[in-house]
Amino acid sequence: MSRRRFLFVLGSSRSEGNTELLARRAAEQLPADVEQEWISLADHPLPDFVDLRHDADHERPTRGEVALLLDATLAATDIVIASPLYWYSVSGHTKRYLDYWSGWLRTPGLDFKATMAGRTLWGVTALSDDEPVVADPLIGTLNNSAAYMKMRFGGVLLGNGSKPGDVLNDTEALTRAKTFFSAEAPLARFPQP
Ligand SMILES: Cc1cc2nc3c(=O)[nH]c(=O)nc-3n(C[C@H](O)[C@H](O)[C@H](O)COP(=O)(O)O)c2cc1C
Repeated sequence: MSRRRFLFVLGSSRSEGNTELLARRAAEQLPADVEQEWISLADHPLPDFVDLRHDADHERPTRGEVALLLDATLAATDIVIASPLYWYSVSGHTKRYLDYWSGWLRTPGLDFKATMAGRTLWGVTALSDDEPVVADPLIGTLNNSAAYMKMRFGGVLLGNGSKPGDVLNDTEALTRAKTFFSAEAPLARFPQP
């Protein structure tokens, strides 16, 4: 897989919110030969996650939203979790998508962990709080998930806003967006004790 392909997983419960606006600003800077796929989890709702990891008849999904998300995930060199900050962490839609990763890790024939190793996870989030530090749980969730998967982690682009469009007034976030995806993304590591 030499050509880069970014999958933007939109986790907001509303369309064209601050998180998506900020992610689109960052994506504008990607080179033209980088492919982009955008999937809104609100438009493609995943069913409740059921833990079938240890069931003998656990099979690769071939239809529906789960198959769509799985195929898009497998096809991406770079996965961008674009989730608003909800209760200091990722949104419910986003959490459910990540829960499915646990199922895919145990799906026969997928080799999900080996396939994802070395690929890059990024985050984009919007929050209404003025203190960016309150997003640390979201950043930790994404960093640790990337570390567990032996993926690279490009960090999280933060923007401030409450109602849709507010983030366009966060000039510092818009400046950070211009170079966000050009930064080095080292192999993710769990925090040291
Ligand atoms: C369910 C819910 C939980 C939220 N929790 C937080 C929070 O913990 N901290 C915060 O700063 N903002 C919180 N917010 C505000 C959103 O992060 C903010 O409105 C953001 O701009 C929404 O992103 P969006 O426009 O992409 O949907 C919450 C909003 C909702 C709807």
